[in-house]
Amino acid sequence: MAETVNLGMIGLGARAETLLATLYELRQKNIEVTAICDTNPARIQRINEIFEERKLPLPAAYTDYRELIKSDAVDAVLIPTSWNSHLKIAEEAMANGKYAGIEVGGASSVDELWHLVHAAESTGVSCMMLENVCYGRNELMALNLVRKGLFGELIHCCCGYEHDLSEMARLDNRREREMHNYKRCGDLYPTHGIGPIAKILRINRGNRFVSLTSTASKGRGFMLEAERSGRGQVFYNQGDIVTTVIKCANGETITMTHGVSLPRPYSRDCRVQGTLGIWVEDTKGVYIEGISPKYEKLDVAGNPYTVHEWTPIDELYEKYDHPIWKKFRQEIIGGHGGMDALVLQAFCDAVRTRTAPPIDVYDCAAWMALTCLSEQSIACGSMPIPIPDFTNGKWIEERPLCTGVWSLDEVCD
Ligand SMILES: NC(=O)c1ccc[n+]([C@@H]2O[C@H](COP(=O)([O-])OP(=O)(O)OC[C@H]3O[C@@H](n4cnc5c(N)ncnc54)[C@H](O)[C@@H]3O)[C@@H](O)[C@H]2O)c1
Repeated sequence: MAETVNLGMIGLGARAETLLATLYELRQKNIEVTAICDTNPARIQRINEIFEERKLPLPAAYTDYRELIKSDAVDAVLIPTSWNSHLKIAEEAMANGKYAGIEVGGASSVDELWHLVHAAESTGVSCMMLENVCYGRNELMALNLVRKGLFGELIHCCCGYEHDLSEMARLDNRREREMHNYKRCGDLYPTHGIGPIAKILRINRGNRFVSLTSTASKGRGFMLEAERSGRGQVFYNQGDIVTTVIKCANGETITMTHGVSLPRPYSRDCRVQGTLGIWVEDTKGVYIEGISPKYEKLDVAGNPYTVHEWTPIDELYEKYDHPIWKKFRQEIIGGHGGMDALVLQAFCDAVRTRTAPPIDVYDCAAWMALTCLSEQSIACGSMPIPIPDFTNGKWIEERPLCTGVWSLDEVCD
């Protein structure tokens, strides 16, 4: 029987409730929540009620995270707090010997990311970004297809976060995230998109992000929603669409889109393209030379031309589903189509075995840095901005790969 992992949950908002629902389903995997913390006592009360409804023993409760991270009752902490507080809490948790699971978001400065890196290096304790999308079924299948060489040599990728969240500008619905969009202009939420792409491109393990440029469109979506709700005219700094182009050391380019204020269906806008094949999320298809349909046709003048057709992605699951999903699809549990349960188990297994997590401090720093660097680029008229090498040169060497069932570097059965 696996050793029990005792977790502390810091930040008890909407995300914490989803995580707790998934963790409740994961109790048979020996994962317990033994401590909770929020600066707002009403949130503690709400979470205690959930524990009572589920007939679970009440966790130790704190309003100051510095007390929770000192507690022997927890082996690790999950940090679904608001964006500006993640990194400081993670840094202090590691200094107290606790693995830190950081919820997604972008950094405010490169400086706070260096603090995080130095905390992990000096304490030998790890942190992991809880980037659930890295465990998405199609993202993992794309990783599998790439590692099997079916896309050939990678050339270009796209990703993004395109989600109509304009309702947060309404009078009665204002949240911390809205303040970021009001005051800032940049890619504020890069990691759902860039996480899987960075893993596929081996960023920090033989490759790295070198530089970026970002450009923002004008912003109208939030302003219109605020007006409709009776707030009057409110001018947001955020552009409706922020487009970032990243150049990688091995020559690939990545286009990243952030758009949260215009009406549209949700998309992470994924595309992975190499010399032999391509996956485009929004087409729900892949094209792979030698596998997908390709044939000659004649145009009206009788000249031949070649037609390439998409293969629907669900036709590939049988043969190319990632091993994690081959097993997991029998018993999908938890939030976000199962991705939450997978990322939480990956984190808890690293805690249990005191090993490096599949998304480490260098990944976390490189991905979160894109937010503040995109802001800088936009502020300077789309100027190219260098992206720091948080590994201090270790990306060049073959760093030991994180292997094992949860690996996002290799595909391990
Ligand atoms: N991975 C995903 O799919 C996913 C989905 C939704 C949200 N998130 C992330 O989860 C995080 C939380 O989102 P949310 O919607 O629950 O936000 P929220 O604002 O509803 O909740 C945040 C909570 O943290 C508390 N808090 C803030 N600073 C604190 C501190 N220093 N100490 C203790 N508590 C503190 C607040 O009082 C609040 O209750 C964000 O980073 C968000 O990006 C991730």
